[in-house]
Amino acid sequence: MANLNVPKIDNRYDNYIGGEWKQSAHGGSCENRNPANHDDLIGVFPESTSEDALAAIQAARAAFDGWRLTPAPKRAEILFRAAQLIVERKEQFARDMTREMGKVLDETRGDVQEAIDMTYFLAGEGRRMYGQTAPSELPDKFAMSLRQPLGVCSIITPWNFPMAIPSWKIIPALVCGNTVVFKPSELTPLSAHNFVRVLEEAGVPRGVVNMVTGGPVIGELLTTHQDVAVVSFTGSTAVGRQVNQNAAPYFKKVHLEMGGKNCIMVMDDANLELALEGCLWGGFGTTGQRCTAASRVIVHDKVHDQFVERFVARAKALRVGDGLDPQTQVGPSISQKQLEKVMSYVRIGQDEGARIACGGNRLTDGSYGRGNFHQPTVFVDVKPHMRIAKEEIFGPVVSVLRCGSLDEAIQIGNDVIYGLSASIYTQDINRAFRAMREMYTGIFYVNAPTIGAEVHLPFGGTKATGNGHREAGTAALDVFSEWKSVYVDFSGKLQRAQIDNNPTALTP
Ligand code: UN1
Repeated sequence: MANLNVPKIDNRYDNYIGGEWKQSAHGGSCENRNPANHDDLIGVFPESTSEDALAAIQAARAAFDGWRLTPAPKRAEILFRAAQLIVERKEQFARDMTREMGKVLDETRGDVQEAIDMTYFLAGEGRRMYGQTAPSELPDKFAMSLRQPLGVCSIITPWNFPMAIPSWKIIPALVCGNTVVFKPSELTPLSAHNFVRVLEEAGVPRGVVNMVTGGPVIGELLTTHQDVAVVSFTGSTAVGRQVNQNAAPYFKKVHLEMGGKNCIMVMDDANLELALEGCLWGGFGTTGQRCTAASRVIVHDKVHDQFVERFVARAKALRVGDGLDPQTQVGPSISQKQLEKVMSYVRIGQDEGARIACGGNRLTDGSYGRGNFHQPTVFVDVKPHMRIAKEEIFGPVVSVLRCGSLDEAIQIGNDVIYGLSASIYTQDINRAFRAMREMYTGIFYVNAPTIGAEVHLPFGGTKATGNGHREAGTAALDVFSEWKSVYVDFSGKLQRAQIDNNPTALTP
């Protein structure tokens, strides 16, 4: 493997600015530790200052003209090479990711694979990126529309999909001809490093992609600086609101992907075994730390008790542990803070009158004590107004609610501030289509859980989940480019559009 610019000395990592790997100019550093074992120090990363972020923005600004003028198919060739390099390093990247954020190896392999898929898919746009041609209303005049890049894009990403989500944003930004300043979550900087190194090795020119690690100080500059044209953010609704406010004075294009409180509706005619599997995977996969997680299960009265009994038995049997252990099904929470949030919602649920059917506690025995482990927890007797039925917990906690009909399930399902993903288990096609139409979400599943969106379809949500944009699919191009309509008049004379010089022609 080529070792460019020596980005790593022991386990000390650098920022990447203008094609150089360097420490923060005046900032400190912060430790990245394994959430399954706090004794495992993964690395020390820069805690950057706004000075570093400014240098990154300036580097991205300076690189913009060269990159936007590089033909899109040539930009794409570099991205195809990047995808190939990720393929070659997939296993190592997955292991690094499990170590730094805890989800099980099969899932981190899936995360890396998603980055590969997204990179191949969007690099393909280098030879498409289609605009439109349209007939002109005037003779000897040609009309078309084409996509143009916007400039510097601030890419701010979360820890739960540490390589996939950066790829969803950085690759479309690049293929469209923009340059990037990337601020990954402070909790998963190693996966971000792995991704950026691949881009460097694939031949992305200096300054086209820059990375600064650190916290809110750099986030502030990346969302306010006047040289930033686009901000794409995935994270909590509270921070997303702040990002939107920061970006407003300069009319930046802002793409926000925020919280979720997704539901699975289990109807009385559902294949119950299938529904159980879907609810387990949707609720406890990734330790419930997906914005698409099925944190609510709305079960028809007729099958409720039977469902709960079987669901609880299955949840109890889930094996919690270190994601590197092939036996593990549920890894740790990402951080102590996140674990405390989970524990506080367990208390809130009890105080509200819901009943814990299984779980409810932090795990501390033996090696569990060195990590952020919590039992998979199922609440029953949950009422729609309760906070555990309304608020995003982002942990291994599932609330089971009752419904008496499909209409009631839909009503409960929609009665939250979020609108990312929803699902129904039923064998009745009429019910399935009605639910599909009535659930006001960005993603809907029939007989599958709420997680598992594929890279070539739009991804995003309604209401407080998003601000109307979608990522992934070709929808991503709409975030990272804007339209230019072009008219070419080859008549050789002045033709005046919108001048009605023959008003009677169409009137009888
Ligand atoms: C997220 O949780 O932030 O649809 C993204 C899914 C994954 C992506 C989740 N492909 O569950």
